[in-house]
Amino acid sequence: MDSIIVTGNGPLNGQIPIAGAKNACLTLMPATLLSEEPLTLTNAPRLSDIKTMTTLLQSLGAEVTQMQGGQVLALSSHALDNHVADYDIVRKMRASILVLGPMLARDGHAVVSLPGGCAIGARPVDLHLKALEAMGAELELREGYVHAKAPGGLKGGIFEFPFVSVGATENALMAATLAKGTTVLKNAAREPEIVDLAQCLRKMGAQIEGEGTHEITVQGVDRLHGATHPVVPDRIELGTYMLAPAICGGEVECLGGRLALVGAFCEKLDEAGIEVEETALGLKVRRRGDRVRAVNVTTEPFPGFPTDLQAQMMALMCTAEGTSVLEERIFENRFMHAPELMRMGARIDVQGGTATVTGVERLKAAPVMATDLRASVSLILAGLAAEGETQVNRVYHLDRGYERVEEKLSAVGARIERVRET
Ligand code: EPZ
Repeated sequence: MDSIIVTGNGPLNGQIPIAGAKNACLTLMPATLLSEEPLTLTNAPRLSDIKTMTTLLQSLGAEVTQMQGGQVLALSSHALDNHVADYDIVRKMRASILVLGPMLARDGHAVVSLPGGCAIGARPVDLHLKALEAMGAELELREGYVHAKAPGGLKGGIFEFPFVSVGATENALMAATLAKGTTVLKNAAREPEIVDLAQCLRKMGAQIEGEGTHEITVQGVDRLHGATHPVVPDRIELGTYMLAPAICGGEVECLGGRLALVGAFCEKLDEAGIEVEETALGLKVRRRGDRVRAVNVTTEPFPGFPTDLQAQMMALMCTAEGTSVLEERIFENRFMHAPELMRMGARIDVQGGTATVTGVERLKAAPVMATDLRASVSLILAGLAAEGETQVNRVYHLDRGYERVEEKLSAVGARIERVRET
């Protein structure tokens, strides 16, 4: 397994290009199943998760061609010859469950493996299933698979999510576009990736209103046509790289970044003493003084502070002035980066869903272990300013969500290299 060596090397200066959003692309790709005509996605990120979704869609009979080095995906599913999403693929990536709604809506039947849990939590899919049942789906769980039927097609329905779920909103939204009648999704997720999906579906002929609010209304149509759609910039990659100059000093411009994507996150950065300036090319970030101030963070659904930036923010708080309290409210086990940061000298006390971080002057390099996607990048951020050479192991986690991380950070002056395991 590859590892990454990062050595503290002072302030960072320059520009970092932000790629298309992994979590938007992973729901835009299954949308091809809703139409027999081609769907073209531009500004697609080059990530291993995208490759996994490609393999899954191809296993169903869809065609997926990567062009321009993977930045353009040409998808077409004029004929599906398989309606079973196999456990071997689904277990690698939970977002695979997002083929369920579209496949069921298009052909009236689908068999999808339950994804199982992952490092950060049990992550059940009960809300995905309940939302589809509200549209008339008949579901049966058998031997680890969801067997779904919609004889005569899905029908419009009203479903109120008991709590916000991004994936369940996406599955239901895609299914509703072809359901007969009107569907109303209440307490829907408001993430930019949902808005991006709705905009793409509308280009395909879907009739959707209210995306980005808590209530989405969909008038079902008989069929959807093809479209071309640019993937929205990745707000989590954006937030991650905004923290690099915050941790190391210097000034970095994140190309393609937009304030609207990272509102609550920027408010916290401002409170901590980090300046964010919107430029014609993106977001320019610099630290006001020599050391950031400790701030408290509670993760919430959008537009609150994103859970996917909690680990990265903790890395910043490790060397902040004062004590910060980070509350993780979305997932039940998302502090696995804490013990690794403590190996680097961080002072962190984890009690259930709350981590209390007492800032120290500087972290010290140490070999550390990546445990999940966002934890892995928080260790790299910590290593950027630590004294000495930090080796981050198991970086296959990183490659799921960050393209060319060594290149992008080296370009602004970081000392970082990948060690390929022989
Ligand atoms: C999406 O996961 C993202 N993944 C996650 O990003 C992100 O952390 C999460 O949304 C929250 O923003 C993709 O978009 C591919 P949820 P998702 O359904 O849809 C519980 C990353 O690092 N829940 O909003 O799975 C669930 O266990 C990844 O890029 C149920 O109980 O998240 C969690 O505690 C990590 N039943 C909470 O709700 C359900 O049916 C929010 O989950 C669904 C979810």
